[in-house]
Amino acid sequence: MSSLVDKFPRVSDMLKLAKRRMPYFASEYLFAGTGYDEALENNRKVLNQIFLTPKYLKGTVTPSLKTKLFDHEYDAPFGMAPVGMTSLMWPGAEVALAKMSVKNNVPFALSTVACASVEEIGKELNGNGWFQLYPPEDKAIRDDLLKRAKNAGFKTLIVTADIPASSRRERLRMAGVSVPPKNNLRTFFQAAICPSWSIGTLKNGIPAFGTMDQYSNGNWHGNAKSKAGFAGSQMQRYVDWDYLKEVKDIWKGPLILKGLMHEDDAMKAINIVDAIYLSNHGGRQLDIAPSPLQMLPNIRKKVGTKFPIIIDSGFYSGQDITKGLILGADFVMTGRPFIIGLAALGAKGANHVHDILKDELSNIMEQICAANIEELKNQKVMIGKDFHLTDFN
Ligand SMILES: Cc1cc2nc3c(=O)[nH]c(=O)nc-3n(C[C@H](O)[C@H](O)[C@H](O)COP(=O)(O)O)c2cc1C
Repeated sequence: MSSLVDKFPRVSDMLKLAKRRMPYFASEYLFAGTGYDEALENNRKVLNQIFLTPKYLKGTVTPSLKTKLFDHEYDAPFGMAPVGMTSLMWPGAEVALAKMSVKNNVPFALSTVACASVEEIGKELNGNGWFQLYPPEDKAIRDDLLKRAKNAGFKTLIVTADIPASSRRERLRMAGVSVPPKNNLRTFFQAAICPSWSIGTLKNGIPAFGTMDQYSNGNWHGNAKSKAGFAGSQMQRYVDWDYLKEVKDIWKGPLILKGLMHEDDAMKAINIVDAIYLSNHGGRQLDIAPSPLQMLPNIRKKVGTKFPIIIDSGFYSGQDITKGLILGADFVMTGRPFIIGLAALGAKGANHVHDILKDELSNIMEQICAANIEELKNQKVMIGKDFHLTDFN
C-alpha cells in the first residue's frame, strides 16, 4: 500500500478530496476571499515572484528547523493560524489541531470564535497555546475572556486588528453560510452528500461558538441574544491603541498584534507588543489590500533585525514558508492548509500537512546547504518585477 506521502506529496494534492468531503457551505466558508477575490489571488501571485539563488560547494548539512519565539523553542518556524468556526469546516477540528501542535511542537492559535472553548482546548495544549482575541466591545466580556484563557493555560495572546468592519464576503452569502448552519433543505442536501462530515458533526455536535456562547445565552448580564449576531456585534470594531495597551496590562504575557500591513502601525506597535503579525486575513477582509509579503521587507528594515515578525496569507508549502523567512519573517503561520488536510484525511491529515511543510522546508535547506533557519534567512533572493509596489502619494 502506498504511503500518505506517495499519494499526497503536496498540500495541493489533498485539495480535491477535501472539497469533495466538505459540504459546499463549509468549503465556501474556508476558501472564499472577499469582494472579487483579488487579494486572495494576489497573495499567490506575489509568492511566485520570489526566487532563491543557491550557492553550492558548502558540504553536506543536516538542517535544524528549530526556532525560538519568546521563551519557547519550536521544532519548526511555522504554525496554525487562528481560524474561526473550525469545526464547521471539519468536525472536531480544534482538538485535532491542538493535538497536532503538541505532537510536533509547533504553535496552534485558538480563535475567539472557534467551536471548541478555551477550557476544552487549553487542556490539550500543555500550557503553551496561543489564544486569539477578537477584541469585544464590552470590556467586561473582554476581561473575562482574558481571564478564562489564562486560567485555561494559554500563554501567548494574539489581538486581531484587521476587522474594524465585517467584510461583505459575497461568496458566503451566495453559499448560504450561517452560524449555526441553517436548518433548511439546501443545507441538508449539501450535508447529506458528505457522509463523513455529517456523521462527524452528529458526534461532535452542531457547530457553535464554544468560548463566546456563554455571553449570549442569557446567563451573562441579561437576555439571550442571537449567537452569530451577538458575536458579530462584539467583534466588529473597537480596537485602538488605548484598548491594546489595556489588553497588554491585563494579559501580562507575550502579546502579538495580528493583521498589520502598514509600516506606521508596525512602528507604533513595537513599543507596545512583543511581536507583530503581518496578514491580510487570507484575503478575506480588504480586497484591495496588498499581500503582507509585499510589505514585509520594508517593515523588517524599519523595525530592525531583532523584533519578531510573524506573517501569514497564502503560504501553502515549504517553498512559500522559505520565501516568508528569507524576506524577513521569523515565523510563518498558515490557515487553510491544515483544514484541507483535516477535511481530506481526518485528524491524521493535519499531521500530514505538518509533515509535508516540514519536509519541503528541510529539503530546501539541504539543497542550499543551510544548516539552520538563520542561515536560510541569509540567502540571496531575487524578486520579480511585479512584486514591488510604488507609492502614489
Ligand atoms: C475560514 C477562516 C476563518 C478565519 N477566522 C479567523 C479568526 O477567527 N481570527 C483571526 O484572527 N483570523 C481568522 N482567519 C484568518 C487566519 O488567521 C489567517 O490570517 C489566514 O487564514 C491566512 O491565510 P491562509 O488561509 O491563506 O493561510 C480566518 C481565516 C479563514 C480562512
